[in-house]
Amino acid sequence: MPAGTSARTLESMALQISPSILASDFGRLADELARISGADWAHVDVMDNHFVPNLTLGQPVVEALTKVSPIPVDCHLMIEDPDRWAPGYADAGARSVTFHAEAVHAPVRLARELRALGVRAGLGLRPATPVEPYLELLPEFDMILIMTVEPGFGGQEFLDVCLPKVRRTRDAVRRTGLDVWVQVDGGVSEATIERCADAGADVFVAGSAVFGAGDAAARIDRLRDLAAGACAH
Ligand code: DX5
Ligand code: ZN
Repeated sequence: MPAGTSARTLESMALQISPSILASDFGRLADELARISGADWAHVDVMDNHFVPNLTLGQPVVEALTKVSPIPVDCHLMIEDPDRWAPGYADAGARSVTFHAEAVHAPVRLARELRALGVRAGLGLRPATPVEPYLELLPEFDMILIMTVEPGFGGQEFLDVCLPKVRRTRDAVRRTGLDVWVQVDGGVSEATIERCADAGADVFVAGSAVFGAGDAAARIDRLRDLAAGACAH
């Protein structure tokens, strides 16, 4: 069986919280990671000031983070030319690497390369990018990231207009029977997470909602409970 087409069966949907360290104190990253040890992933936003109008951190910092993080690192690459750079983040120790559909030249080749390196491959979509052209490629991916803000900055207002795309993505994943996760990222909070879960998201990125809370661990549990409640309906 060629790489990237291994049979994956639909597993029961587990809800996961992936706090974005973009909203954390960059002067104390190891301590900030310890605050979210009860989460499923640490979401690390890599921005290159080209794909998005902001610059954050790169491979050497991700490598340092993966060494001290108590939970696996979920790397979100908001960069041009991920074909060239994304494998380096797998080498740096990230367990999940998401690149953007709008930036990649050869998505299938890159997803296969990432999987061959032993990491989960994710495909990110900006709010204005439809999912439909990529549905045939679902077997190549472990996760589809639906941006619920324009990528580039934390603390923005959640875009409800992206929810129909979350629902269509979940429906398509169900039809395939594959275990592809659907991640939402941007403006996810106590006020919006239920709508995301109801639409079919199962991985929730939350930056300011988690790191802005006095008790980050309690906020993670609260977000997880709200999402689970919405799914139970
Ligand atoms: C935005 C980043 C997000 C951001 C989310 O481009 O991809 O991960 O940190 O931050 P909040 O949750 O504050 O919207
Ligand atoms: Zn992100």
